Amino acid sequence: MTSQLIKKIVTGDEIRNAFLKFYSEKLHKIIPSASLIPDDPTVMLTIAGMLPFKPVFLGLKERPSKRATSSQKCIRTNDIENVGVTARHHTFFEMLGNFSFGDYFKREAIQWAWELVTNIYQLSVENIIVSVFHEDEESAKIWRDEIGIHPDRIVKLGEEDNFWSSGKTGPCGPCSELYYDFDPEKGLQNIDLEDGDRFIEFYNLVFMQYNRDLNGNLTDLKSKNIDTGMGLERMAQILQKKQNNYETDLIFPIIKKICEIANIDYFSSDDKNKISLKIIGDHTRAVIHLISDGVAASNLGRGYILRRLIRRMVRHGRLLGITNEFLPHIATVGINLMQNNYPDLKNNNDLILNEIKIEEIRFRETLERGEKLLDEIISSGQKLISGFKAFELYDTYGFPLELTVEIAEENSISVDLKGFEKEMNAQKERAKAASNNIDLTLEGSLEREIDLFNKTVFNGYKSLLSEAEIKGIFLDSTLVKEASEGQKVLIVLDQTTFYGESGGQVGDIGTIFSNDVEVLVDNVMRKKNVFLHHGTIKKGKLILDKKLRLMFAPLIELRLLQIIQLLIYYNLHLNQLLMKVLDKKVH
Ligand code: ALA
Repeated sequence: MTSQLIKKIVTGDEIRNAFLKFYSEKLHKIIPSASLIPDDPTVMLTIAGMLPFKPVFLGLKERPSKRATSSQKCIRTNDIENVGVTARHHTFFEMLGNFSFGDYFKREAIQWAWELVTNIYQLSVENIIVSVFHEDEESAKIWRDEIGIHPDRIVKLGEEDNFWSSGKTGPCGPCSELYYDFDPEKGLQNIDLEDGDRFIEFYNLVFMQYNRDLNGNLTDLKSKNIDTGMGLERMAQILQKKQNNYETDLIFPIIKKICEIANIDYFSSDDKNKISLKIIGDHTRAVIHLISDGVAASNLGRGYILRRLIRRMVRHGRLLGITNEFLPHIATVGINLMQNNYPDLKNNNDLILNEIKIEEIRFRETLERGEKLLDEIISSGQKLISGFKAFELYDTYGFPLELTVEIAEENSISVDLKGFEKEMNAQKERAKAASNNIDLTLEGSLEREIDLFNKTVFNGYKSLLSEAEIKGIFLDSTLVKEASEGQKVLIVLDQTTFYGESGGQVGDIGTIFSNDVEVLVDNVMRKKNVFLHHGTIKKGKLILDKKLRLMFAPLIELRLLQIIQLLIYYNLHLNQLLMKVLDKKVH
């Protein structure tokens, strides 16, 4: 059959399906994408299609079959600064791969890769350049003598480019990469594969035959394996003839929605706006998948990656002039776009949207305050943001350092990174020295924010039950206007019946509730004149300035407490009744 008779493969779905079909016809078992959270302590996220098979390559786990193929969702954040700036860098991407576990090796891997890209994807030879590891004569020979590629199309590269491993240790090997040449008229002389405007690397064939130990020594793996990776988005850019990956059908619908919300047009936007649109488009895909795979925003590890991505989305939305909450709308488009291939997105739809919404609200509040501070610094004409200020932005206003650096760079200002580190270390020392129940990393910001509040009136000896108004809600280090079910919060009230921990005496436990919200308080601390109620929202939404009832229960079991609450809901004579019950329990 001539290539003209074969249907052209264009869309992202077609590219993915064609890849899996091609290799399944070559007896590869199709393996569904694994979670982004790897079963591997050496990496934080799934960064390549081979990661779920790492134990198989190392001979620690039985192979699922001799050959496998997959379309694996991946996230890499090492290149985050390039996301949206270059045509092809992403945090989230899909890697198409074919794998051999001690079965075929270089010859078939190269032959099939060639067959796939020239026959199925119908790329022409003129557009393809291949690279090989400079010591790997065998691969160069296969390309030249068996495939018949002109020697000028074969570029030899060193270890940095053509020796692949998933980390400092583990399975690895030399590789051979296929590049697409957007400008073949320029000829084959002086080829520079680093020229990103002309070339894009789209398919990496790794000849995985070694294990690298902690000292960098290579030993032969039990068997010789194949691990490959084709960037779906990159292939889509090539086949859809787009300027960059973002304009492909895999991402552009998300960008279109952002444009609609920002009321701008992508194609007539300037470069700065285009970068913001691309960053949001990219991060949307990463964020929905991270949450769907079980990551919750936090200040640690994967949770911090998620938080950082969401914060970057909010900030770039603001740069585009979006002032209202917008992330759930964008996320919905992302979920709709990808749910056919990743049904978990559909199942986790509500969870994803809720987490994004909460994180966006939380960040918007701090951002507004932090940006004001940063504006003052910028408009004062300073050329350097001190370590102290950068740390204050980080610690008090939830501004990640990278964000401060990014904004500073946009305004040609530098940041004293060493000074920042010094402040950070000093804070860690302070935290070590301190001792109370609050997450110690929050100390600094709490100390500052606490002065914003009036003294909490303590009326605990008069009543076990009283009404109070919510004056402040802290989520992590941040003051927020509301918080939802499941979240751990610190609550400041205008008055309280709870005793606050101080001078060695423990704080009270109990509940804070109204008709539609319930918070289980597990400790109360006194900071200066303010009582901080430390608890978990069991039900409903906590909203600033709302009136609530408080009930403290130093001696009552929580179950009993719940029964009493029920009675309270039925509007019985509370205070007296409670006193009676308590009395009985005590005596
Ligand atoms: N594991 C190889 C890569 O990620 C295929 O490039």
